[in-house]
Amino acid sequence: MPTPVDTIVWGDRHLDLTDPDVYRAGVPHATFQRLRDTDPVSWTPEHDGAGFWSITRYDDVIALNKDFRTMSSSHGIRLEEMDDEELAARRTMMELDPPEHTRLRRLVMGGFTRRTVASYENAIRLLARQVLDDALPAGRFDFVTRVARQLPMRMLGKLLGAPEADYRFLVDRGDAMIGNTDPEFTDHVVDQVTHDDHRLMPFRSPAGVELFEYAAEIARERREHPTDDVITQLLAPTMDGEPLSDLEFKNFFTLLVAAGNDTTRYTMAAGLQLLLDHPDQLGLLQERPDELLDQAVEEMLRMSSVTMHFRRTATKDVELHGRTIREGDKVVLWWISGNHDERQFPDPFRFDITREDNRHLAFGRGGPHRCLGEWLARAELKVTFEELLPVLDRLTIDGSVERLRSNFISGIKHLPVAVDDPT
Ligand code: HEM
Repeated sequence: MPTPVDTIVWGDRHLDLTDPDVYRAGVPHATFQRLRDTDPVSWTPEHDGAGFWSITRYDDVIALNKDFRTMSSSHGIRLEEMDDEELAARRTMMELDPPEHTRLRRLVMGGFTRRTVASYENAIRLLARQVLDDALPAGRFDFVTRVARQLPMRMLGKLLGAPEADYRFLVDRGDAMIGNTDPEFTDHVVDQVTHDDHRLMPFRSPAGVELFEYAAEIARERREHPTDDVITQLLAPTMDGEPLSDLEFKNFFTLLVAAGNDTTRYTMAAGLQLLLDHPDQLGLLQERPDELLDQAVEEMLRMSSVTMHFRRTATKDVELHGRTIREGDKVVLWWISGNHDERQFPDPFRFDITREDNRHLAFGRGGPHRCLGEWLARAELKVTFEELLPVLDRLTIDGSVERLRSNFISGIKHLPVAVDDPT
């Protein structure tokens, strides 16, 4: 019997998708559902921008994402407007289309393939055990701060070859950038400050300045002492024989810190909440972990869809569902809505770890920018839940769950839990 959607979707059906405060209370699923059903290519005006189209159906999101010639990333990939100067200062491979994009992506692809990531599994398991051994004996703790926030950055730090003493700095600065609309993570709340002194920095954030300085220092050091880490790969000449410029390098480094920091963390937190809220699914997982763990991770990714959207810009006029998207218009691909599209996923609000054919959009799909870190994220999620399995039915949520103030990242930033009999 399908779960009635009305009991699950949050909020009313006409929420402002741009308002970061909306997402503090939850993902505005009812609004997305209305858009999918009645207005799948819908126009949202913005008070500080030109407005944008929202694409909310699964098939449309994939089709537009595939068509990178018509839906370009090179004018920016988030809602904010960027002028040419900002774009030039902040461009990473995410803000490039092929073939320029391919040139940069190839530099580091090797470090993130499924096969390479499989070779990191022991390291991930060791880190997961360390982190859990530190947290569980406390009996009551914030799962996000003590576990989910720790593992991804420690792993990324290892891949980047950053000294362990610097991980904390990298996580904090990464949070200040991506959480740039949440006062808990930054005192430079980007939609509330009255100056734009940092507009040429990643995420318009002062944390970007610090990460740029850090990147310059680590590059200097690696040029003198090359190793086999991702930084050394980044400093090598690209396929056209030219090395990255200093600015390209700093932006690339900052992209990895930003992208590899909080996404896996928030998926882990959402995954734990889903399992604890669905004891039937938890029971199934504990009975048949070898068979179901991979599927459970995919279902966590689908339901949490942590990076809720990325934006493109139309390079020519496009007709879709009776609407005309004009050349130059901003087009927002809502992965999170596609991941809950009833046309693709039967009973989409049901957390079902046995779901077949779960071709979700959490990592993007069909286009050139598909997540570089998808196998790393999967491995971290799988290993952490494997290590958590024996205690999962002794964990309960113990306090209020707090969500990030962001219209870009759907994140649980605090998930207090209690362990029954922690020893
Ligand atoms: C559950 C965790 C993660 C989620 C949900 C996620 C989501 C995504 C999505 C949706 C994109 C597509 C962007 C676009 O279409 O414009 C993307 C790209 C990317 N992701 Fe992830 N990501 C995750 C983990 C990671 C990790 C661990 C890394 C590690 C470094 C990473 C690095 C990147 C990079 C570098 C790109 C840009 C790829 C390109 O432009 O070719 N991600 N990610």
